[in-house]
Amino acid sequence: MPEMTDWSPQSWQSKTVIQQPVYPDQNALSEVVAQLAQLPPLVSSWEVENLKHQLAEAAQGKRFLLQGGDCAENFDECSPEAITDKLKILLQVSLILVHGTQKRVIRVGRFAGQYAKPRSDNTETRDGVELPSYRGDLINRLPFTEKDRTPNPQLLLRGYERAALTLNFIRALIDGGFADLHHPEYWDLSFVKHSPHAREYRRIADSIGESVRFMETISGSPAGQLSRVDFFTSHEGLHLHYESAQTRQVPRREGWYNLAAHMPWLGMRTANPDEAHVEYFRGITNPIGIKIGTGMSCEQLSILLDILHPNDEPGRLTLIHRFGAHHIAEHLPPLIETVQKSGKTVLWCSDPMHGNTETTADGIKTRKFEHILAELEQAFEIHQQMGSYLGGVHFELTGENVTECTGGARGLADKDLTQAYKSQVDPRLNYEQALEMALRIARRVKEMNGGG
Ligand code: PEP
Ligand code: CO
Repeated sequence: MPEMTDWSPQSWQSKTVIQQPVYPDQNALSEVVAQLAQLPPLVSSWEVENLKHQLAEAAQGKRFLLQGGDCAENFDECSPEAITDKLKILLQVSLILVHGTQKRVIRVGRFAGQYAKPRSDNTETRDGVELPSYRGDLINRLPFTEKDRTPNPQLLLRGYERAALTLNFIRALIDGGFADLHHPEYWDLSFVKHSPHAREYRRIADSIGESVRFMETISGSPAGQLSRVDFFTSHEGLHLHYESAQTRQVPRREGWYNLAAHMPWLGMRTANPDEAHVEYFRGITNPIGIKIGTGMSCEQLSILLDILHPNDEPGRLTLIHRFGAHHIAEHLPPLIETVQKSGKTVLWCSDPMHGNTETTADGIKTRKFEHILAELEQAFEIHQQMGSYLGGVHFELTGENVTECTGGARGLADKDLTQAYKSQVDPRLNYEQALEMALRIARRVKEMNGGG
């Protein structure tokens, strides 16, 4: 990317900035930000460029992106069990997608730093008491007390450290062979045996293991690249003091890298071209995502393409659309046309979660499996009809047996939601629902490609 003279990691501060916490002590915040800027990075520019290269191939239809994880991580779940469960479900879903799409799958976790959340209200009132809204563990804590809800800059350091611990453990597991395609049994979650999809999943896992061995037999050498998988980390680039503290120049490369994540994304609420978040994202060299909802006009998208994707650099931009099953047919086609008219290449990715959130009669936030699947199926169809390529999916999912979304093979109903509802923010697909979703997409893609 050519050097920009009118941008710096801090230039966002001259713009209107939304969705930021209000810290009671600005000096304390500045001290923490200075400390963060001194700490070693979480990822390297080589890895970031490697991901960009892979995303460029996905945009051309040669790979498929799987991005997934929690809506928000929390500090208490920075544990070996929670991390391995997250890794396992992402690996299993990716294996099914490899099988269905016959493409290499890029695995990008919503983890190791997904600690900050946008909120629709700055405050929350209970029994006449008004306190700041919970904005994620990076900013404040969930209990409804003044102490917990007051934004505390020390949490930025605690979040950075936990992101590093999470990533360190994931790297160790992967280097140690945990993600080896010869041994998908390493990733089995304890209740896989009881899942209604166990047989179909096992058949796919076995056939991939066989293909890897077959490739090795005919090539006479270990499949190497083929059998090893990469993992990348992503989070919403929301807290701009945190993000800019991690934004650095590296020797022998041009530009500025956000080295706290391989792929930060711009949330739907902060994609105003005149505001601070777009200003920040404009200057970083990383591949970035933009969340696109029903409020995105064609004009806004074309301005964003000009600002954030000016040079049409391969792999730079992923558009993650999240309209809802009832709105995608109306909203997606004009935006695809806008991109086609611009002549630029982007990677299209469907997030079928965030446009399908609803509240039950009892006030519980949930999503219906059928709506999630319906949005995805329409996304594949619309892109195909318009000569565009849907090259990725973005899920909120967990390796745990939670009850947060309804539907799926076990027919979870609204009344079951309270059994094991853990998310503090958005409802996630549980382990079985995630596997089932992957199997349904894989089948669909196979059919679209003319397979059986
Ligand atoms: C999210 O990904 O958790 C989120 C808040 O998404 P969006 O910006 O699309 O609403
Ligand atoms: Co969410």
